[in-house]
Amino acid sequence: VGFSSIEAEVEGGVATITVARPEALNALNKQVMQELVSACLFLDRNHPSAKVIIVTGSGDKAFAAGADIKEMATLSYADAYNSSLLNGWETLRTVRKPIIAAVNGYALGGGCELAMMCDIILASDKAQFGQPEITLGVIPGMGGTQRLTRAVGKSRAMEMILTGQRIGAAEAERIGLVSRVVPAAELMAEARKLASKIAEFSTPVVEKAKECVLVAQEQSLGEGLRFEKREFWSCWALDDQKEGMGAFVQKRKPAFTHK
Ligand code: HXC
Repeated sequence: VGFSSIEAEVEGGVATITVARPEALNALNKQVMQELVSACLFLDRNHPSAKVIIVTGSGDKAFAAGADIKEMATLSYADAYNSSLLNGWETLRTVRKPIIAAVNGYALGGGCELAMMCDIILASDKAQFGQPEITLGVIPGMGGTQRLTRAVGKSRAMEMILTGQRIGAAEAERIGLVSRVVPAAELMAEARKLASKIAEFSTPVVEKAKECVLVAQEQSLGEGLRFEKREFWSCWALDDQKEGMGAFVQKRKPAFTHK
């Protein structure tokens, strides 16, 4: 519906959003941000048949080569500080459905940070990750210093952020930045397979699980464990808990109603 910098489609419980600025290596300008965030919010809140969201980049070179440097280069401090250039990204955190980043090429700067905002990163063997902001005279501003550190640990995050050096897909897998690496030609099929698998399960239960894992990133172990326990027992309020456990006992496949 009227997007110009992204493409969105829903098929069989899986929504796919593609950043569509291949000529700029899918650099994340304000319009991409607004469209991507509003598509995710719409799919999350108003599209019950879309259960999982995949985010990827168009073309075979880039997932996203970062925030749009040309858009930011000449801003004054006051304009940069006051602008809503990056504010929308925070809103992505309110999306309850799982988001899979299918990283098909460069994921640099804001592109790497966008991938890390997603819940699972699936990488093609051509993917490259990095936080090159230091080479531009700035620092990461969409969560890189925080999420990369949580993902790969302090020493490796420091090295990547202080040198701006890129790492390849195999290295990203080895250090735990991505969930898995697959051949480039199979990336989208694998992402859809993964999304479809998750889409089979009870939507509210999937969302509870996602929320609990995110709490692990933000809070202490004690608080996280308390949160998990409450969410765990709250599953008993759902039809899908009765169905899932009932089906096991009756030795049949569960048919979740997503309620
Ligand atoms: C704007 C970009 C861009 C970007 C690439 N392009 N990255 N435009 N913002 N982040 C444009 C180029 O200007 C060029 O446009 C076209 O895309 C193709 O890019 P090339 O450089 O010609 O391609 P290549 O030689 O293959 O090099 C690929 C690359 C390089 C290594 C990925 O493009 C690159 O280093 N890009 C910048 C990566 C980066 O620094 N990202 C961090 C951005 S800062 P023309 O018009 O010349 O054809 C950031 C901060 C986030 O993300 C935190 C919040 C502020």
